[in-house]
Amino acid sequence: MCGIIGYTGKRKVRDVLLDGLELLEYRGYDSAGVALVDEKGGEPSVYKCAGRVADLRKVCQEKELAQTCGIGHTRWATHGGVCDENAHPHRFGQVTLVHNGIIENYEELAAKYHLTEKLHSQTDSEIAAGVFDWFYKGDPYDCIKQTVSELKGTFAFVILFADKPDKIYSVRNVSPIVAAKTPEGTMLASDVTAIGRYTKKYFVVPEYHVLEIDKENITLTDFNGKQTEPEYLDIDFALNMSEKGGFPFYMEKEMAEQPKVIADMLEEKTKDGLPDFSKEGVPDELFTDCENVCVVACGSAMHAGLAGQSMMKKFLHIPVTVELASEFMYNDPVVDEKTLVIAVSQSGETIDTLEALKYAKKHGAKSLAVINVKGSSIARESGAVLYTNAGPEIAVASTKAYTSQLALFCLLTARMAYARGNFTADETRAFVQDLKKVPTAMEQVLAGKDRIHHIAGRIIEAKDIFMIGRGMDYSIAMEGSLKLKEVSYIHSEAYASGELKHGPLALITEHTPVVAVATQGRLLSKEISNIREVKSRGADVVLFAKQSVIAEEKEGCFGFALPDVRDEFMCLPAAAALQLLAYYVSSDKGFDVDKPRNLAKVVTVE
Ligand code: AGP
Repeated sequence: MCGIIGYTGKRKVRDVLLDGLELLEYRGYDSAGVALVDEKGGEPSVYKCAGRVADLRKVCQEKELAQTCGIGHTRWATHGGVCDENAHPHRFGQVTLVHNGIIENYEELAAKYHLTEKLHSQTDSEIAAGVFDWFYKGDPYDCIKQTVSELKGTFAFVILFADKPDKIYSVRNVSPIVAAKTPEGTMLASDVTAIGRYTKKYFVVPEYHVLEIDKENITLTDFNGKQTEPEYLDIDFALNMSEKGGFPFYMEKEMAEQPKVIADMLEEKTKDGLPDFSKEGVPDELFTDCENVCVVACGSAMHAGLAGQSMMKKFLHIPVTVELASEFMYNDPVVDEKTLVIAVSQSGETIDTLEALKYAKKHGAKSLAVINVKGSSIARESGAVLYTNAGPEIAVASTKAYTSQLALFCLLTARMAYARGNFTADETRAFVQDLKKVPTAMEQVLAGKDRIHHIAGRIIEAKDIFMIGRGMDYSIAMEGSLKLKEVSYIHSEAYASGELKHGPLALITEHTPVVAVATQGRLLSKEISNIREVKSRGADVVLFAKQSVIAEEKEGCFGFALPDVRDEFMCLPAAAALQLLAYYVSSDKGFDVDKPRNLAKVVTVE
């Protein structure tokens, strides 16, 4: 939800913070700020404003700032509107801090510690600063421990104390913080994208530990006063993967990376032609001992789960449910020790998914996470983890993370079918062999981007769009609809094609745009009937289908022929095509494709 960074060392801290905030801006971008500490101590200099990091750079640029210690923040507003006063850092007495999360009892705390009259903002974070200041008597550890005992909610705080000029402190609960030593100082951030250019090793700050960093040292102390050693992890992606690499937007770069990401992941997770999860220590017992599967996820990750559900039901013949993580625990889910819960998340920090996972585990379920970010909260909470290894995904709209989740679900289904005896070894190898043809098919879709760009021109002025499909195509239509909504702001609804007749068809009139996905051979005849139903009512149909269907339906349809792979895998080239469609509509409308209004890449509030 917000981006946080802190640095203390030999480098000019303003540049380290601003450069890092630019890399973290995908986490939240309605305002930004830094607090810079003078070597001599005293109150840090705070520079902050509503707007982007580029605006903050202008605010800081005029000043010759030589400080070498400071903290920074990019905000996604939760409490209080978007304005300079509500931007972080917040200063209160001896304390200056930045915060990611939500303090639920902020009003109670404001009253209890008589803060209300002294506040300058409408944020929960400034109230937290007031409580830290209330408890600060010169010992940061003691102050942090006492303050945290008063807080309800989620938080990652990064704190400066006026009389500790070159030290930075941090404490977290749920919201993420990573930290690292670098050759020229120590630093911390919300995630590794902001530190990858300075170091190849980092650690996740454990919850309810006080982190203290200065120019040379890192100290971790738990709330029993015991010092603990950081558990270091390797940054396993090339630096350029968190930079634009010449593309106009991260989204276009990340779409282009999809074939290689999927090919590499399939290579890494197969051995002798069979799916192999031994490197990640995922045992077959997880697959053979369960009697049902429950996927919990949000957004695109949930849509990947829907496609996975189609595959698993088809080949495993066991009940597979997909639950919106934000709804899961409030809907009396039926979960027990025979359930395998699969938490799907690119960031591994989505709090709805994390809480759903914890709830399922509490009710006896075995857990498996499908995650992109190593060491993330959901990865650490899960009994077993399969990483998509898609590299950093900076664009808010998920593309390569989503398709790598789809590919992983294909591999996971094959391994489960093999382990449970639904597939022989030869059938499993044949399945995997076909799956390895997908990256080439996605390359072909990307090569057809000009055709898709042309199709985008036909819907760019639309106010409402329907996206329809049957079976797995319906889950692809849902994902395509989400992509279009979140980057182009066009209202779009995904419908199961067979459902249109039960009401929505009333909305199909002359020139209503309808995007139809038709890739499942056994459903094609019905899908074609539904396409003809909407065409007969005047709809402008854009068809994403196999070449054979395009040829048959070329009358009154604008189409894009998808490369032909095994039906179960058609979701991948189809998804890539719909991503490009959304991308071109948004970029041709002149929007900031990577940072859509109101959104953030990681949703760490419920
Ligand atoms: C994807 O385009 C969206 N930005 C969003 O729906 C995202 O998939 C969702 O917030 C889940 O995020 P996660 O995968 O990091 O858990």
